[in-house]
Formats: sequence, structure tokens, C-alpha cells
Amino acid sequence: MRMYDIIVKKRDGGELTEEEIYFFIEGYTKGEIPDYQASALTMAIYFQGMSQKETATLTQAMVDSGETIDLSQIEGHIVDKHSTGGVGDKVTFIVGPLVASVGVPVAKMSGRGLGHTGGTLDKLESIEGLQIEMTKEQFINNVNQHKLAVAGQTGNLAPADKKLYALRDVTATVDSMPLIAGSIMSKKLASGADSIVLDVKTGSGAFMKSLEDSEALAREMVNIGNNLGRHTVAVISDMNQPLGYEVGNANEIKEAAQILQGKKVMDLRELSLEIAAHMTLLAEVFSSYEEAYQALEANLENGKAFNALRTLIEAQGGNVDMIDDLNKLPQAKYAVEVKADTDGFVKEIDAESIGVAAMYLGAGRATKDDEINHGVGITLHKKIGDKVTASEPLVTLHSDQEQPEASISKVKEAYTIADEKIEAPALIHKVIK
Ligand code: URA
Repeated sequence: MRMYDIIVKKRDGGELTEEEIYFFIEGYTKGEIPDYQASALTMAIYFQGMSQKETATLTQAMVDSGETIDLSQIEGHIVDKHSTGGVGDKVTFIVGPLVASVGVPVAKMSGRGLGHTGGTLDKLESIEGLQIEMTKEQFINNVNQHKLAVAGQTGNLAPADKKLYALRDVTATVDSMPLIAGSIMSKKLASGADSIVLDVKTGSGAFMKSLEDSEALAREMVNIGNNLGRHTVAVISDMNQPLGYEVGNANEIKEAAQILQGKKVMDLRELSLEIAAHMTLLAEVFSSYEEAYQALEANLENGKAFNALRTLIEAQGGNVDMIDDLNKLPQAKYAVEVKADTDGFVKEIDAESIGVAAMYLGAGRATKDDEINHGVGITLHKKIGDKVTASEPLVTLHSDQEQPEASISKVKEAYTIADEKIEAPALIHKVIK
């Protein structure tokens, strides 16, 4: 079998066989297939798509490319969550501690930034000393002891995805339904949780821009999960503007910590409670959605959820002072305001452009080897539906350059101001079980 022929077959719209998919995944994982051929195939998949059968096979091949973690030594029903990726998405830092605070074990394996979206691990590394690489034993011990651990994929967990994820990030092949489904579900299946809640983003800042495509992706992943014995629920949530008001690594940690201290940033708080409620329902600790929601909301107010975040940071070697005093988190040198040109109401905020503007500041990677700058980012002052007057700041850029021109023009491009008032888009579009 030759990789060349597999590329030609997919380029021309053919359906790959199980043998061909395994040949690609095994060969690429071992380093026998070079990046340029893997890029050509992922680009062909991007344009031609994959059948449900191909996607399921791709997922299983990626699971089989490495070890699977046996989490049976963890007591209780283990839940995991995963987002398809958005801008300002710091939900993991809120729901992890929140769900752990009601006694449900959360074993979360996370990834780095992808495309215009930030990565959970990059954000966590804003906290000095925090370790995201750990052995399986440490991971299991931490979950048993503290009900929560957030770690990078271990070397042998879905290694095919680890390689492909980094390649797709720099070859414009992220936003493909079968590649996203395979990437997410292979990690989730290999990492051993009993149940999974997927946060499938839809809109301008998501990889799937239309509700139709997002729903198809959600259904595909829920089917793969349920067929392979993991109870899987998908929440389709809006990403037509960044989530919350902060974008960037330290910025997002700060906003998440504030939510856990009871701050009412409504979209972020509401989505976090929704995802957390489904996680606890899957773990069967509450008998109804309302009961779950109320218990979780109470823990945002009474400090229990915030304490669970502190515990996570301490357990993983991080400097907890940075969370107790959020001014100690990394900060950029300059605060540069981008102002509105006219009066009116915010009609649209192209979330992808905001993500790209943050990447230009240094919050994300343009190439595989780029270093992340944890202190830079964007604070939004205006969201969809808000009234603005000319010269009012739309955002503040936290930058290490005095005049970050590329980011300024990207932010200007992102905002559309209209004369008439616009309603903010619905936050939760659908829940797929
Ligand atoms: N998140 C992942 O883990 N993989 C993708 O492909 C997209 C988002």
C-alpha cells in the first residue's frame, strides 16, 4: 500500500477502507509517513469529507495508535468534558472545580491552542509552576484525592491525534467535521472517563460556523461515544462572539477565577452551569436538572467551587498566590484601547478575528514551535446589543508592543456597529443526547 494512492483516492472523493485508514494513522504515528503527505491527505479530507463509517474508523485507529488509560482505580463515576474550541472559552477552569465541588470526579485531559482558539494547557501555564505533564499514577491519585486533575495528553494517549493536531493547526485543516470528531473522540475514548459532555461551539468564532454543521458534528460525536459505551451528551453553544469579556491566557484564568468567586458574567456563568449540570446528571448525583443547577449555583456563591480551583492549582504545583491576588498573574507592558468610530449598537463581533488579533499579540501560535506570551490578550468592553458612542473603547489590547497595528486593525474589522438595537444571540442552541 502506498500513501500516495490513498491521497489520490481521497482527493478524488473515494471512501477509504479500514486498512487504508489504519495504514495512514499507524505510519504517521511511527514517523514513516512524512508531514507533507499527512498534510495532503488532511487537506483532501477537508475538501471531500468522510462517511460516518470512515470517521468511526479514523477515531478507532487514533485510539489504537497508543495506550488507553484505565481509570477504574478512581472511585465514583468519572466525567469528562471537551469543547470543540472557541474564543474566550475558559469553561473548563470553571466547570472542573465546580463539578469537583459537588463530589464528582473530573479527569480532564486537555490540549494546546489550535488555530485562532486558545488551549486549556497554555492558559493553565499562566500560573507559575503549574505542572500539566504527569504520570498516569499521579493523574489517578490527584483525581482520587482532590476529585480533579487537568493534564496534557500523556505521551502514549492517542499519539496520532497529538501529531495530527499540531499539523492541522498550521496547515489550515482544523475546521473539518471528521477530523474534529476523530480528534476529540479518540482522546475522550482513550482517556477512560465513564461519561462525556461535549461543548460544541457554533458561529463566527467556532470551527463549525453554521448551526447545521455544528449539529451534524455533535450528533456524529454523540453516536461514536454512545456506540463505544460512553454516555455522551453534547451542548451546542453560541460562539458568534467571544465568551465572557476576556481573551488570552492569563486574562482567561483571571475571568474564570472571578466567576468561581461569584462574579456574574452572564453568558460565561450560564454556559458553565449548563455544562456542569449535565456532567453531574451523567454521574447520577442529582435527580433532576433543576436540583443539579441549584446545587452548583450555590457552590459558586459559597466559595466551595473557588476552593476546588485552589486545590487543583496546589496539587499540580502551581503558585496559588496568583489566584488569591489576580494582579499577580502575568501582565503585558501596554494597555492599548481600540475605540468606536461611530455611535450605534454592536451588531456583530467576528469572534475569529478577535481570536486572530489575540494570536497576533502573542497569545497563540502561528507555527508549531512558537512560544506563548501568557500576559497578552484582549479585554472586551462591548458585546452584541450594547450601545456605543463614538470614541468609546470597544476593547483594550494588553500588548508588549506599544502600537500593535495588526491586532488593532483586526479588532476594528471584527466589530460591526449598526443604528438600531440588536438582541444578543441565544447562548444555548440545543442539547443532543
Ligand atoms: N479540539 C480538539 O481536541 N480537536 C479538534 O480537532 C478541535 C478541537
